[in-house]
Amino acid sequence: MPTESVAVEDLTIDDAATELARLAKEVAHHDTLYHGKDQPEISDADYDALKRRNDAIEARFPELIREDSPSRRVGAAPSVTFAPVVHARPMLSLDNTFSQEDVQDFVASVYRFLGRLPDQSIAFTAEPKIDGLSMSIRYENGRLVTAATRGDGTMGENVTANIRTIKEIPTELPKGVPAVVEVRGEVYMAKSDFMALNKQMEAEGKQTYVNPRNTAAGSLRQLDAKVTASRKLKFFAYAWGEISDMPAETQFDMVQLFRDWGFPVNPLMKRLNSVADILAHYDDIGLKRPDLDYDIDGVVYKVDSLELQQRLGFRSRSPRWATAHKFPAEQAFTTVEKIEIQVGRTGALTPVARLTPVTVGGVVVTNATLHNEDYIKGLGNSGEPIRDEEHDIRIGDTVIVQRAGDVIPQVLDVIMEKRPADAVPYEFPKRCPVCGSHAVRERNEKTGKLDSVTRCTGGFVCRAQATEHLKHFVSRNAFDIEGLGSKQIDFFFESEEEALRIRTAPDIFTLERRQQNSLTKLENIEGFGKVSVGKLYAAINERRSIALHRFIYALGIRHVGETTAKLLARSYGTYEAFAAAMKGAAPLSGDAWNDLNAIEGIGEIVARAIVEFYKEPRNVEVISALLSEVTPQDAEQPVTSDSPVSGKTVVFTGSLEKFTRDEAKAKAESLGAKVAGSVSKKTDIVVAGPGAGSKLDKARELGVQTMDEDEWLALIRG
Ligand code: IVH
Repeated sequence: MPTESVAVEDLTIDDAATELARLAKEVAHHDTLYHGKDQPEISDADYDALKRRNDAIEARFPELIREDSPSRRVGAAPSVTFAPVVHARPMLSLDNTFSQEDVQDFVASVYRFLGRLPDQSIAFTAEPKIDGLSMSIRYENGRLVTAATRGDGTMGENVTANIRTIKEIPTELPKGVPAVVEVRGEVYMAKSDFMALNKQMEAEGKQTYVNPRNTAAGSLRQLDAKVTASRKLKFFAYAWGEISDMPAETQFDMVQLFRDWGFPVNPLMKRLNSVADILAHYDDIGLKRPDLDYDIDGVVYKVDSLELQQRLGFRSRSPRWATAHKFPAEQAFTTVEKIEIQVGRTGALTPVARLTPVTVGGVVVTNATLHNEDYIKGLGNSGEPIRDEEHDIRIGDTVIVQRAGDVIPQVLDVIMEKRPADAVPYEFPKRCPVCGSHAVRERNEKTGKLDSVTRCTGGFVCRAQATEHLKHFVSRNAFDIEGLGSKQIDFFFESEEEALRIRTAPDIFTLERRQQNSLTKLENIEGFGKVSVGKLYAAINERRSIALHRFIYALGIRHVGETTAKLLARSYGTYEAFAAAMKGAAPLSGDAWNDLNAIEGIGEIVARAIVEFYKEPRNVEVISALLSEVTPQDAEQPVTSDSPVSGKTVVFTGSLEKFTRDEAKAKAESLGAKVAGSVSKKTDIVVAGPGAGSKLDKARELGVQTMDEDEWLALIRG
């Protein structure tokens, strides 16, 4: 009897072996169709479901993993590729707020930034936050020309053919609309359509989908638009990108225009004038939530006036004029079956609870992070109790798990009445479970307190740290090398053959050369064919030239995420300048150190981590080997180079009357200027309001250009 409808936990070992054999054959068959003839028989989602099933069975019966398992094959997974689209205006995300106080703070920050008094009322719109995928749809002369996903916000994927199949989205706009219009909004799948689809999948004996959002995403990422067409996707318009001629002055009116142009808009959007009204509308939408035919995960508030939106502008990733007020996370009860330790790139030992599977808000949860040793004990980062009566978490405990959005589920609390009599406190390992090195909690030099993270001291010796480093290096926002995934890294890392081994990042780039002189050919190894090896080399060679910020991010320096890497790239411009400055900053004092700390968005902890990284000779050695293979491109300077203040260092002083200091600073920075707090020889312009004192004197003394607010405004307006 076929077993695919049996839950993996219920399979016998014999059934599992038979099914793995069948899956290996079936996946191989679809791979051939997909790659060889470009004529797949099943959708990507179905294909993924087969692979997931295979992985789940293998996770339960690792002893049954076959030589020809799909999980061992390289380069076979269909990675659907769409052409990239650079967004004419970046697609940003929203800041989140979780409590009434957060919302009050948000509103207050808007008033403060604009220098408004509480009685000079500012209107906000409030509308549901749709849990779907954001989309930017571009119309030129009234015709739909491109539709693109958000991607990384700067560049998305061209899914025009698929979007054209969504009936709710007009392909032509009425006469008289601006010549260029980019309408943005959310593509989603209605709950009722999702349930009907899953019923059908069940009837056909196929794996069901997890939730409407993922199904909508899978339905869109289809090379065959006919599949998308069969999925009944829907759309709400709520924002815009480039528009050649703004046809309205408020957020609310813009959305009404979208409706007039034929787009679906959300009927629950309101324009409101006070925090009390905003919060009342939030409660109201929350009450309606279960009856809506689409998933929402909060309420979005936006400043209604477009002029004020423009003055408020953006932080690096989100607008100052909007926020998403999220609904509380969903919770469920389950039991902790095991506690396992994962070792990360920086050596951090992270405990993970393996849970009896439970559905939380429509998603099956089997793992939850336990963060660190203290979290298991019931203590927060400063040693404060985080659970009632400092309950610790033990294997066998019944716990409350919480899932909020896409973040990893958390264990919130323990139900003490259900604790098994023989449950014992969890003993956190003293050694790294991967390499056996001592695992320690560092003491913070300043506070003398123990760090909450336990770290493996093995460094480069630790296989987990080394492979995680490599995985980070090739990951999407770093070097993004297609065909080098987690499994392949593990394979190359473990290889005993000199001509196959990848232990550090530069090894990736010497692989092809080493292969040429070797008898152990990669293409003869199970899972790699001639074609996939060729593709892998091409993907590697394509990255021999790389954007500076990706290069810096890929180095895997502690605390240096994408945003920080971009700040560093922009500030230093070239890799040479960056590396020289980091060496110069080694004494943690002096000009290079001060300059690093002066970068807005880089604090002392991050600065220290970078400097420490460059003090380690082994890091410098690896980077130098890498640089003989790879060339980081000089960072582009901000796009506003046509502004007369671009690249200038500006100081604002005195009491400003035309704008608040925050607004002045944000505006200057958006034009490419640097804003400093004190006047020095490096200062280019001092903008002085009434009452300016010593800074103005100093500027005059040094012969720095000075001006008043009106002159400044005239200068930046050109
Ligand atoms: S406004 C510049 N309005 O939420 C801000 N976003 O967390 C543009 N989203 O990427 C977004 N419903 O995909 C806005 N009514 C709504 C929304 C909404 C859902 C999504 C959107 C965005 C994400 C940010």
